[in-house]
Amino acid sequence: MAKEKTVYVCSECGGVSPKWQGKCPSCNAWNTLIESVPESTAPTKNRFASLAKTSGVAVLGDIDAVDMARTPTGHDELDRVLGGGMVEGGVVLIGGDPGIGKSTLLLQALDSLQRSGQRTLYVTGEESGAQVALRARRLGLDNSQVSVLAEIGLEKILATLEATRPDVAVIDSIQTVYSEQLTSAPGSVAQVRECAAHLTRYAKASGQSDGDTRGRATSIVLVGHVTKEGALAGPRVLEHMVDTVLYFEGDTHSSFRLVRAIKNRFGAVNEIGVFAMTEKGLKGVSNPSAIFLSQHAEPVPGSCVMVTLEGTRPMLVEIQALVDSGGPSPRRLSVGLDKDRLAMLLAVLHRHAGVACMDQDVFVNAVGGVRISEPAADLAVLLSITSSLRGKPLPKGFFAFGEVGLAGEVRPAPRGQERLKEAAKLGFSVAVVPKANLPKNLKSKDFEGLTIHAVERVEEAMTVVRDLA
Ligand code: TYD
Ligand code: MG
Repeated sequence: MAKEKTVYVCSECGGVSPKWQGKCPSCNAWNTLIESVPESTAPTKNRFASLAKTSGVAVLGDIDAVDMARTPTGHDELDRVLGGGMVEGGVVLIGGDPGIGKSTLLLQALDSLQRSGQRTLYVTGEESGAQVALRARRLGLDNSQVSVLAEIGLEKILATLEATRPDVAVIDSIQTVYSEQLTSAPGSVAQVRECAAHLTRYAKASGQSDGDTRGRATSIVLVGHVTKEGALAGPRVLEHMVDTVLYFEGDTHSSFRLVRAIKNRFGAVNEIGVFAMTEKGLKGVSNPSAIFLSQHAEPVPGSCVMVTLEGTRPMLVEIQALVDSGGPSPRRLSVGLDKDRLAMLLAVLHRHAGVACMDQDVFVNAVGGVRISEPAADLAVLLSITSSLRGKPLPKGFFAFGEVGLAGEVRPAPRGQERLKEAAKLGFSVAVVPKANLPKNLKSKDFEGLTIHAVERVEEAMTVVRDLA
């Protein structure tokens, strides 16, 4: 097949250049030109390539707001992050480190969808059909009726989708798919973007009838690889293109896995699903609140438990810190927590509480490979650091949460009382929390059987903890 002429499009400003250049001639940004198929020569012979069949302007109130038809996948934790199930014609991008369980989860989901009467297609570009079958057997999915296609050519995949019209299709992975229209190698930004765009358009157009009655639209799940920096390989535009973006998180060495929705046009964002990797694949964990605690018989220095609110469920997570004398340029390292935030917290600690870690290495870690992005972790991070610095453990049954500001103030965390209740339920007894998180009319320090020390400033928190130990 003759190669179509390609152009180079700037990913920043959208400017078009006929040849590759280091600098975009339109906006002068560097390294932003990406090989693309020019609009006019894109293969319009395929119905799905021309979504822009305009149906005219309509008044919003006159348009039927049809509820999206959702199909539960049969895996409650996955349905939770998807906002209830697979949406007809919806496109989901699921990213995560290699070996974390993307293929496993999707194969399990496809199998239960197939068993509930949906037509499914699993397109694999990374494994052979035999390998997929072997995995299915390992998962105990005997006699699975999921259709498998081992293919990496976009045109062939689209033709198969058009011919078989599955209800749900998984493309594992988008980085292995390539289009003959582009000269660049599979996995390159241009290829990934172009292939994802075609598949997305297919999903959106697959349910539209044009003459003949067409069945339900195909939902597509794209599996994406994650770069070393933790971003989905390929341009951000991939995330804009799809309806839902899910990220797999977790430590491949521990058995727990989190699936987080970071974008969802059909549901809540920042909802998480919790799974455990077992001999027979991923199993949902419906009550995950205590899985990110390490089991210390007695309290140890440098450990502080916090309550984080992930999606709709509070979870207790242990924050660990190690402060140790460093060399001439001390190191600050954080796993699962924001590194810049750590630097900021250390500065606040020094300025407002007079605790200096300037010549110390500081390492902090959220146990179990969770990633905590909410600032409510601040107080627990600071308390674990000071606990390690002094070599003194926090009391048994202790926890803390609250955001710390640059002025040294302790700000409330959203839905604080829910967090307190969850910790009380799990047997925690002492807490340092932001004053604003307590009920206004609370007279005593006692809430849900917890001894609570409400603080407004960092230095106050430090004094409270010093007196407790
Ligand atoms: P996989 O789904 O292949 O990861 P990805 O597609 O994200 O790269 O995950 C495979 C890992 O999971 C591998 O390390 C083995 C482990 N595993 C189990 O522990 N139990 C199982 O039943 C299966 C199928 C895999
Ligand atoms: Mg895989």
